Amino acid sequence: MGIRIKGTGRYVPEKILTNADLEKMVDTSDEWIVTRTGIKERHIATATETTSDMAAAAANAALEMGGVDAKDIDLIIVSTTTPDMMFPNTASIVQKKIGAAPCVCFDLAAACSGLIYGLNTAYGMMASPLKYKRALVIGSEKLSCITDWSDRSTCVLFGDAAAAVLLENDGNPDTPDFYADGLVSADGNFGDILLMPGGGSANPASHETVDQHMHFIKMGGPKTFQLAVHSMVDACRTLVERASIPREKIRWVIPHQANWRIISAVAARLDMPEKVYQNVQRYGNTSSASIGLCLDELNRSGQLEKDDYVLIVSFGAGLTWGALLLRW
Ligand code: ACO
Repeated sequence: MGIRIKGTGRYVPEKILTNADLEKMVDTSDEWIVTRTGIKERHIATATETTSDMAAAAANAALEMGGVDAKDIDLIIVSTTTPDMMFPNTASIVQKKIGAAPCVCFDLAAACSGLIYGLNTAYGMMASPLKYKRALVIGSEKLSCITDWSDRSTCVLFGDAAAAVLLENDGNPDTPDFYADGLVSADGNFGDILLMPGGGSANPASHETVDQHMHFIKMGGPKTFQLAVHSMVDACRTLVERASIPREKIRWVIPHQANWRIISAVAARLDMPEKVYQNVQRYGNTSSASIGLCLDELNRSGQLEKDDYVLIVSFGAGLTWGALLLRW
């Protein structure tokens, strides 16, 4: 159909929070954080820097790479767990900031699986009779604003960042699509292991919800770990087995960057450890931005060539999960 990845972009805030900094904030150590998670540092947005600011910066970088004018964009999907506000949606705020009005804008809530859900959705909309020609799929997260900085079991894990993927349909039926294969799914029965309980209709903001730290990330660490490995390995195996391409043609495997132990466990079970990319040590877990950060790093450093296959895979709150086989 001719739907290709035309550009990628990323943005990370300037301020770096190291493990040594965290040692001064909670009862933890660099040794504990590195051995349990692999994370050495993460970037933190300023108080006034918003999710839409970061998303717009990443989007502009992708547009510049693709040589596309923002006015020619037909569709913007922003995946985020930290929207600027409940409404309007962050995608519309990004649209205004990059000068892309008018076009279709909506936010997507699939937590860390957001970029994969977003690419899946955008591809479906572009391939449908609706015929959207150019789309921006963005993952942007200011997780520092929903992190409980007094809870050592979660505050060492997360960072802020944004990443964008620019898609374009070149209209040539002979050009193979970027979307070689994919699967996304969710199981709401595991909704209580990873959540932010306050601020929605179940627990509207009140003095009580603030006092009880309900506007922060709550996580059952070990259960999340186990489900993450299981869901990502399963999704990858399904795609690899049904793909009509030999395994050797897969150049990179990019798992959601939550924790190097989860990434290593997935790499070992897939038996392709040398193809697994990771940068979690520098950014921490940036939720729906994490896979896009990896794609943009590889793309800009010349480690992705036309027709390379890239397997991306994620899991996130919901529990959501998904995997896509991308053709570069
Ligand atoms: N520093 C020092 N000690 C700590 C810290 C810390 N930052 N955090 C927890 N501990 C302590 C605990 O209190 C506990 O102490 P205790 O035995 O005296 O009670 C001990 O360390 C072990 O705690 P565990 O939770 O068993 O540690 P575990 O080996 O499971 O590692 C971790 C914890 C890193 C959170 C792990 O469970 C994990 O990686 N889980 C998955 C997390 C994840 O990826 N979440 C995804 C987030 S969102 C998303 O991406 C979808």
